[in-house]
Amino acid sequence: MGRRLFFLVAVSLLLFLSCGKKQGVIRTPVPARAAGQTDMLQFAAEPIADVGVGVVGLGMRGGDAVRRLSYVPGCHIAAVCDVLTDRTVKSLSFLEEKGLSAKGYSGEEKSYEELCADPGVDLVYVCTDWAHHFPVAMCAMEHGKHVAIEVPSALTLEECWALVDKSEQTRRHCMILENCCYDFFELKMLALAQAGVFGEIIHAEGAYNHNLDEFWDQYAANWRLLENSKLRGDLYATHGFGPVCQVLNIHRGDRLKTLVSMDTDSFNGKKHMADRGLDPKDFASGDVTMSMIRTEKGKSILLEHDVMTPRPYSRMYQLVGTEGYAGKYPVQQVLLRPDSAPKEVPSLDNLNVHRPMTPAQLDSLVRRFPNPLLEEGITELAKKVGGHGGMDFIMDYRLVYCLNHGLPLDIDVYDLAEWSCIGALDRISLEHDGAPVAFPDFTRGAWNKLDGFRYAFAE
Ligand SMILES: NC(=O)c1ccc[n+]([C@@H]2O[C@H](COP(=O)([O-])OP(=O)(O)OC[C@H]3O[C@@H](n4cnc5c(N)ncnc54)[C@H](O)[C@@H]3O)[C@@H](O)[C@H]2O)c1
Repeated sequence: MGRRLFFLVAVSLLLFLSCGKKQGVIRTPVPARAAGQTDMLQFAAEPIADVGVGVVGLGMRGGDAVRRLSYVPGCHIAAVCDVLTDRTVKSLSFLEEKGLSAKGYSGEEKSYEELCADPGVDLVYVCTDWAHHFPVAMCAMEHGKHVAIEVPSALTLEECWALVDKSEQTRRHCMILENCCYDFFELKMLALAQAGVFGEIIHAEGAYNHNLDEFWDQYAANWRLLENSKLRGDLYATHGFGPVCQVLNIHRGDRLKTLVSMDTDSFNGKKHMADRGLDPKDFASGDVTMSMIRTEKGKSILLEHDVMTPRPYSRMYQLVGTEGYAGKYPVQQVLLRPDSAPKEVPSLDNLNVHRPMTPAQLDSLVRRFPNPLLEEGITELAKKVGGHGGMDFIMDYRLVYCLNHGLPLDIDVYDLAEWSCIGALDRISLEHDGAPVAFPDFTRGAWNKLDGFRYAFAE
């Protein structure tokens, strides 16, 4: 409560001081790092040979996480928890049918506290509704557990900062479960970008355009629609944003600097409320929200969010480089300048800058510069186990592999904060007619310490 009050007073003061002056960049408070506390960049914890996972929230996503994790080598499900007892029982029965056993916690709003205190749990895997991501994650780290949180992991700047601080203080991993960083096309294009095939990536686009008409009623008590009704801004930015931040080496040599946002009014959002007998007045989220971001090193990112219209599904994923282009939606296309294409790939001798590469050309390029995560055995297993075509499995596999070997995770607590804070920054910009808002540097000065985004592997 004290932290919330501090933020409200500080933001109001900053806005008051900027009144009457030429509109500049709006800045939000950056809490000082406590003495003795250090950053979590490249943080590696003690190796855990067989990771005990505790899954909290066993709805659509958590139920499937239990299934997937039961196939991941190097871990076991130690405990499951849902406030709804029947969901806990269902997951326990699933495990029992596979000859596995776990502890079950349920029935109370705070049953997750018992799971977090369970000595058999090393990693708390949070798949609750958005409102519970933060309290469960804080509780997990307070009990000395690593934590991985579904998207978006936090809803406000205060929550982002509190998670960063808690992770730094407890020296526990705090990761956002951004599965789209592990989709096949994104993994392949990241490897090509890192090999310099596109020249320098100077602009990227990401989106979450997904008509949720069929989904709203699947959420108990309409929690997801109500979050959209309460909060303005892009509430679900991370699927489009995470993968492009990795390509742009965000807080690993560059940093997000300024954001401006624009949205439409709510048209369909209000209708969804009225159709369900809920009050449509003051529905906060626009049907379409756009955010534009500039980085310290002069790159730009465009994000779009639209869960309200019949637009086709798109995460956009476009990389615009000085020498090439990759785009995933609406169709996968890769273009390279013929004169700067890698000479050692023989099939690239017939490139045209106005024409996408053929599948055979792209295949030979991808084989020349492979992503190390797409090792044959893992790809096969991922496709078999599934979870959005396999990307969910690769994410889980990597998380457990890094914990097994005591390696830094691919996605750290600063990624979590940067990717989750878009809605909160949009809100400030939107409430000031699209004024620029400074991106908080969640690393507090360490964003240029690393030389690019890299995966860690055991020797
Ligand atoms: N990464 C992806 O591709 C993807 C896809 C869908 C959903 N999600 C995210 O996953 C999360 C869960 O979404 P979902 O679709 O499974 O929602 P859901 O409503 O189906 O499940 C949420 C579950 O959390 C439980 N829960 C609520 N309060 C709890 C508490 N105090 N203690 C324990 N359990 C509690 C609910 O009872 C419910 O079973 C959300 O954050 C969502 O944004 C991610």
